[in-house]
Amino acid sequence: MKQVTEAVPFIAFGGDYNPEQWSEEVWIDDAEKMQKAGVNLVSVAIFSWGVLEREEGVFDFSWLDKVLDILHDHGIGVCLATATASTPAWLSAKYEDVAAIDPNGQPYRFGSRQHYSPNSPTYQKAVKKLVRKLAERYRDHPALKMWHINNEYACHVAECYSSYSKAAFRDWLKDRYETIGNLNDRWGTNFWSQRYNDWEEIDLPVNLATFYNPGQMLDYKRFMNDSLFNLYKIEKEILREVTPDVPVFTNFMYEFKPLDYFDWARELDVVTWDAYPDPRDGIPYSFALQHDLMRSLKQGQPFILMEQVTSHVNWRDINLTKKPGIMRLWSYSTIGHGGDGIMFFQWRQARAGAEKFHGAMIPHSNSEESRAYREVKQLGSELKKLDSLVGARTPAKVAIVFDWENWWAVEMEGKPHNKLDYMEQIKRYYKVFYDRNIAVDFVRAQDDLSPYEMVIAPMLYMIKPGDAENFEQFTDNGGTLVISFFSGIADENDRIHLGGYPAPLRKVLGLRVEEFVPYADEHANTIVYNGRKVKNSTWADIIELEGAAAIAYYENEWYKGKPAATCYRYGSGKSVYIGTNPEAAFLENLLGGLLKEKQIDSPLDAPPDVEVLQRDTDQHKHLIIVNHNDHEVELKLNKGVVYTDLLADEQIENTVRAGALDVKILRF
Ligand code: GAL
Repeated sequence: MKQVTEAVPFIAFGGDYNPEQWSEEVWIDDAEKMQKAGVNLVSVAIFSWGVLEREEGVFDFSWLDKVLDILHDHGIGVCLATATASTPAWLSAKYEDVAAIDPNGQPYRFGSRQHYSPNSPTYQKAVKKLVRKLAERYRDHPALKMWHINNEYACHVAECYSSYSKAAFRDWLKDRYETIGNLNDRWGTNFWSQRYNDWEEIDLPVNLATFYNPGQMLDYKRFMNDSLFNLYKIEKEILREVTPDVPVFTNFMYEFKPLDYFDWARELDVVTWDAYPDPRDGIPYSFALQHDLMRSLKQGQPFILMEQVTSHVNWRDINLTKKPGIMRLWSYSTIGHGGDGIMFFQWRQARAGAEKFHGAMIPHSNSEESRAYREVKQLGSELKKLDSLVGARTPAKVAIVFDWENWWAVEMEGKPHNKLDYMEQIKRYYKVFYDRNIAVDFVRAQDDLSPYEMVIAPMLYMIKPGDAENFEQFTDNGGTLVISFFSGIADENDRIHLGGYPAPLRKVLGLRVEEFVPYADEHANTIVYNGRKVKNSTWADIIELEGAAAIAYYENEWYKGKPAATCYRYGSGKSVYIGTNPEAAFLENLLGGLLKEKQIDSPLDAPPDVEVLQRDTDQHKHLIIVNHNDHEVELKLNKGVVYTDLLADEQIENTVRAGALDVKILRF
C-alpha cells in the first residue's frame, strides 16, 4: 500500500465536489477555476449513489468517467467516495428493511440522508455491490489518489433498534462473553431480577420503565460503534482487494461521542476530519484541541482537514460569517497542529437542496472576484510553498488521557452527580497547555506513555485491566502523573472497583477517597493552595492520605481542613491528585509549576492569543506562528538560528513580526 504522503506528496488543497448537481459545461468551468486556485485534490461522488445506480443493478458511470478525466487533465487528484452515505429512493422503496429504526420503533423515512441501519443485510449487500463496481471501474484511473469511504458515519443516526440490530446485539454479546453466566456476572443482573437464562431473552435497552442496566447500556454503545465500524470494514476489505495500493479513509467529526475514533483510526490510512467551529466562539481553542486529538488518533501521523467552510454554514440558528482573513488564519492553525491538508465543504455552492445557503469555495455568483474565491486562491498559492511540512510530526512531552468508553460510562445516569461533563473537564486541563503553547498529545491509559514526561488523566472514571500498572510504570520511571476527581471508580463493565476508592489507583496516588460530596449548581467552596484562596465547584472528594502529602485544603464545610489536592512521590516520579473542580487559576498555577519542574517550555515566548506550534521532519524543524490578534506582534527568536520564512521566502534572525490575523511559517 502506498503511504499517504506518496499518494498526496503535498499539502492537500480542495474540497467536496458534487458535479452531479451541475451540467457538463460547469464541470469545465469548475476545473479551470480549481486549477487557478491551486486546488490539487477533491472528494467526488460522496452522495452519488442515486445517479450511479439509477435502478437496481443499472449502473451509469458515464458522467463520473468524464468528471474524473476532466479533473485529471487539469492536474487535480481525486479522493473517490464510495457513494454509500445516502441510499437511492428505489432501494428504500423496494426494501423497507434498509431503514434504521428510531427509539420509538419508527423507521427513518426516505428524503434526507443517512437513514440506513448498519445491521441491515439488505443495505450491506447493496453497499458491497456498489463498492466493488466502483473499485473495479476506477482502479487504474490516474486521478484516483485515495478512497473516501461513506461519509461522517453516525453523524445523524448513531443508534438503531431494528430486529436486525437486536439479533446482531445478541451475537455481539455471545462473542464478547461466551457464556450467559459470564454476561450475568458482568452486567450484575441479580440486581432488580434482571438475570438471563438465554441470549434470546436479551433486548435492546430502549423504552424502559426507569433506569437501564449500566452494563447493558455501555455494551449497547460499544455494539453500535462496532456495527458502524463493521460497515466501514466491509467497504475497506473490497477496496483493499481490488486496489491494494490506494489509501483509504472515512471522514471523522471532532470529538464525536458515539464513535470511538481511537478504535477506528487503526483501520484508516490517514485520519481526516470535518471542522466547523462557530465564529461566535472567538479564538477557537477547542478547535485546536480537536486537531490535537485527530493527530493523536494515529500516534502523531498528520491528518487531513477534509471539510471546513470558507465563510458560513447553514445549519446553526444564526450562521455567522468568518470575517476576512479568518479562514486563512484557522487553516494555518490547522496546519500547525498537524494538518497536511486543507479541504472545504464544498467546491461550488449548491443551487438547490438543504445546503444551498452553505458557503463554498465558489459562491452562487460564480465570480472570481468574490471574497470566498479570492481568499481560496490566496491560500492555494501559499500552500504550494509548504511541501517541506508534509509528514512533519509534532514533538509533544505532555499527554492527556482521553477515552471514549470512559466518556460513555461517566456520563450515564445514576451517578452521584449527573451533570458531569467529561469533555468540559478535558478542555479545562487542555487549555492550560494551549495558553502556554505547550504541545499536547491525546492517549489512552493503555498506550505507551514512555514518550511523555507529563500525563494528565481528568475524570478517568473507568479503569481497565492494566491501566493502573501502566500509570505506575510511567510514574516509577520519572513521569509526572496528574489525575482528577471521580477517577478509578469503575471497571469496563461499569462495576465498582472494590477496596476503597479509587481502588486501582490508590497505590500510585498514595491516598484513599472516603466519600464523594457533589455540589449543587449554585454551590461553591474555597480551597487554600500555597496560602492563596481559589474557588472550587461541582465536587469534593473527602481524601484520606496514605503516603501522599496534601497540597491544598478545603476552607469551609464539614470537611474544612481536609486535603483537596495531593502530591505523592512514586518511584522516580510523582503523582498529583486533584479531588475537586478548581477554578482555572489553580490549574494554571499547579500545572505551570509541574511544567517548570520538568523544564517543559513553549518553542518561543509569545504574547497572548498567539499560537506557536512546532512540526519536525528528519530534515527540518518548522515553527508555525499564528497571530489571532487584531494587531501586529513581535516575538524573539532563538539566538544564533537562521530561519527561512517560507511564505515570504526570506531569511530572518533574532525577531519575527506577525501582522494582525497573520501567520509566519519558519523553517530552521
Ligand atoms: C458535513 C457533511 C457534509 C455537509 C457539511 C455541511 O457534516 O459531511 O456533507 O453536509 O457537513 O456543513
